[in-house]
Parts: sequence; structure tokens; C-alpha cells
Amino acid sequence: MKREYRQRTLEVHAGEMPDPVTGARATPIYHTSSYAFESADKAKKLYALEEEGHIYTRISNPTSEVLEKRVAAIENGVGALAQSTGMSAILVAILNIAGNGDEIISSNNLYGGTYTLFKNTMPNWGIKVNFVDTHDLDAYRNAITEKTKAIYCESIGNPQLDIPDFEAIADIAHENGIPLIVDNTSAITMVKPLDHGADIVVHSATKFLSGNGTSMGGIIVDGGKFDWTNGKFPMFTEPDESYHGLVYSEAFGEKAYIMKARAHLMKDLGTVMSPINAFLIIQSCMTLSLRVNQHCANALKIAEFLKNHEAVSWVNYPGLEDNENHEMAEKYLNGNYGCIVSFGIKGGIEEGKKFIESVELLSHVANIADAKTLVIHPASTTHSNMTEEEQLSSGITPDFIRMSVGIEDVNDLIEDIDQALKKAID
Ligand SMILES: Cc1ncc(COP(=O)(O)O)c(C=O)c1O
Repeated sequence: MKREYRQRTLEVHAGEMPDPVTGARATPIYHTSSYAFESADKAKKLYALEEEGHIYTRISNPTSEVLEKRVAAIENGVGALAQSTGMSAILVAILNIAGNGDEIISSNNLYGGTYTLFKNTMPNWGIKVNFVDTHDLDAYRNAITEKTKAIYCESIGNPQLDIPDFEAIADIAHENGIPLIVDNTSAITMVKPLDHGADIVVHSATKFLSGNGTSMGGIIVDGGKFDWTNGKFPMFTEPDESYHGLVYSEAFGEKAYIMKARAHLMKDLGTVMSPINAFLIIQSCMTLSLRVNQHCANALKIAEFLKNHEAVSWVNYPGLEDNENHEMAEKYLNGNYGCIVSFGIKGGIEEGKKFIESVELLSHVANIADAKTLVIHPASTTHSNMTEEEQLSSGITPDFIRMSVGIEDVNDLIEDIDQALKKAID
């Protein structure tokens, strides 16, 4: 499969070929925990990572391998690793390069689960995360210390919809010998962060990649360009005792990061994706940008509708020309602006609740990027683990409603939103 094929072709074909044993054209679900070794000698070489091949599904699986190759192609990376969830992708991406005593810098506008992981859980393991304003380049620079191992951000920050200046932040990271990790869950196919200087991309495959709110999954993609031998990352240049003294940078070159994540961390932590989920997500990949384009077109129309609605006090959508992230969206998102529209309902918390209880077609659900349109009140749900002060500094006001726009007929969505808004302020 040629890497130069265009996006839609990669979404349908990358990583897949007819099954060599049966000729099955669709990727089979290899639902097996283990694989028979051809010989004792071959088994020894597989265990020493001297040859490619499957040993045990906690390390690799042929169905997941197709998904990994497909998403690596979609994101323009050299390799990928499928994970059980988006959270495990984020966790493994960071633990692969940081440990007790290290620090990470993160933009402060994050999915609530990631914020909690960084703010409350990682410090318990000795990894300190310093939060900075997504757009404040000096804040990133000033937060870097000798102990900093990476900069982390989301491509469309959830829920404030901040779009970082990837190239400027990557330059700051690289000037300091550290990688930029981007969670590209919300902007897959709109931007390829690896083409703009990012080094590692993570996804919650539960969202656009799965596409219909069924399968949980995560994926880490390795850009293959970062120099892990620059002295700051001994885990790639010093022998790994788990593999008879193997040195990842020497054994795997540009794939050192993703091979260590697989052979060391996923093997030890067991954060593996199930082959059935990999199969289901492969099916969804085939319609990925068709769906994403429809999500984004609907979201823009709904944002414009909300802007002129009597019950709405403000609308946040990067596709609106007066939005503070519009310039960055134009620079990086290729004419799309994401599926999340947030708005404030006149009145506040009570009107917000009434709106959510009055929608008929929209679902009240804690998810995003589902084919179905979803609404939620972040202050009392996804971001309720934050203090009121933290919520406000992340832009989560009591009147804030987040909508993840799906791929239904937009006229039906607008009619439902309109009737619910009218009821809410009645
Ligand atoms: C941007 C982003 N990253 C990561 C995650 C976590 O993914 P998962 O729920 O698959 O663990 C989410 C979940 O909503 C998300 O929105």
C-alpha cells in the first residue's frame, strides 16, 4: 500500500490486504490470546524482539495491527499503538517518557478526565504537571525546567475550543529538547499535528474514529522524527533489563518510541484494545472524513442559528468569524471547525437544565463526536470534579451548554433545539 495515497483512500485501505490464509477481503477478527510458534528458535527470537511476529495479544494482534497501520497512515506517522481507551493512550504516551521526579507542561484547556489524571493522579506517582494558558507562548517557555519531559495540548481544547498554535509550541518544545504530544481526538482529519511539528499524537478512538458511540478505544501515533538520543531520555538509550539489555533507539531507530510503548509499557500495564473493538473501529475508519465533514457542516449551521436566537446569550464555535480561535482554525483546520458548539443560555443553571430536559431528538450524554447529536451541562457533569474557581478559569460558567453535533439532517436538529430553547426561557 503506497503511503502517498490520498486521505480518503488511506481511510478505506491503509494497513489492510486480503487475508493471506482465507482470502477474506475484510480484515478478520483474530480473537485469540496467543499464537502458535513455528519453532523453538523462532519463539526465542520473537521474545528477544529480534524478529517481527505475534506472541500474545497483550503485546500485538493482527486485527489491531491493521487499525494501527490505518491510523498511522491517516495521521502521517511511522507507527501506532491501539489502546483500550483514550485515557490509556494518554497515560501510556506520557509514562513512556516520564517517571518519578519528572514534569510535564500542559495547556490548561483539557478534557475533564485528562485534567484529573494530570492534576490529581500523576502527582501521586511523582510526575508534576504544570498548566499554562493554551495561547500564552511565554508561559510554556517559562514553565520549562530541567525536569520537563514533554509539552501536551489538545488540538481543539475541550470544552473552551482553544486551538493551539502547534508550530510555535513545537518550536518551543524542540528548542528545549522535548517532544510535543497532541491529543487530536477533536480534530482528526481536520489537522495532522505531526505535519506541524508535533512528535506524538494521541486519540480517544471512542469518538470520531469509532463514530457511533459504541466501541471504547485509544491510539498513540508516533511521528518518528524526535531525537530520543539527545541525553534527556535514557529509557531509549540505556539497556532494558526486561529484554536482555535491548537498547530501543539502536534496535528500532525511528520507531523506538512506539516499540517501547508496546513491548515495555503495554505489555506491563495490559492497556490493550480488544480485537473486536479494533475490527469495529476499522469499519468506521472507512467513512471517517465523510462523517467528520458532515459533523462540521452541521455544527457551523447550528452555531449560526444559535447566535441569532433570543434565548442564547453567547456562542463559542471556532467557525464563527468573530470567534477568538477563528484565526488559528483558519491556519490549521483546513476549512472545518469541529463538532462541538458551546453556548450560554439566558438565565443560567435552571434554564440550562430545562433546555436539556426539553430536547427530544438530542441525547443527554457524556460523549462527543458520536453520529448522534449530544448535549450536556459540563459544570454539573464532565467538569464537576473541578473547583468552582478551576471551572471558571477553564471557561465553564453555570449557563454553559456543550453540544456535540452529529450527522443527522441539520434542519431536524435546529427544529428540536429551537423548541427546547423556547421552553427553557418560557
Ligand atoms: C479530547 C479527549 N481526549 C481523551 C478522552 C478520553 O477518552 P476515553 O473516554 O476513550 O478514555 C476524551 C473523552 O471524552 C476526550 O474528549
